Amino acid sequence: MQKKLKWLVVVSALLFVALQFTSPARTNPPVETSQTLEATTEVPPQVAEVLARSCNDCHSNRTNWRWYNHVAPVSWFTVGHVNDGRAELNFSEWGSYGARMKETRLKAICSLCEHRSMPLASYTLIHANARLTDEEVRVICEWSKKES
Ligand code: HEC
Repeated sequence: MQKKLKWLVVVSALLFVALQFTSPARTNPPVETSQTLEATTEVPPQVAEVLARSCNDCHSNRTNWRWYNHVAPVSWFTVGHVNDGRAELNFSEWGSYGARMKETRLKAICSLCEHRSMPLASYTLIHANARLTDEEVRVICEWSKKES
């Protein structure tokens, strides 16, 4: 029994190490400062603060990758979330969006925050400070309505 347990531990440890080679690439594409949301739109400081704290990890090219994002299997889904999030909405590339796209994104920002669909629950579970207060949602919606 003892021997079997030892083998199980050894095999699990080897599998865990092997798994690390499957980690997808974490990227932070270069930021064209003239194309960012702040450079192309008026963003009140309070809105900028909320977006930076609660959204930018998945919706900008300035993701703050933490150590656990390097560890498979966590890395599989966090890299996926960031890639999918950036594809849908990237504040670092806001200037490249057409007027219609900006409008739909602004409307979606407010409605997803109101419905508490964003930031993703799996994210706020670990990053409790990313949760939005009612006041923050109000400020975000006020801004998005003004801009759209
Ligand atoms: C942990 C990563 C993560 C965080 C943090 C996050 N999002 Fe997202 N977001 C995603 C992913 C992934 C998608 C695309 C898939 C989906 O819709 O679920 C998405 C989609 C969106 C879309 C949809 C775009 C569209 O028009 O369909 C909007 C708008 C959005 N997020 C806004 C926000 C806002 C605002 C915040 C901050 C308050 C935020 N997100 C925080 C990952 C994230």
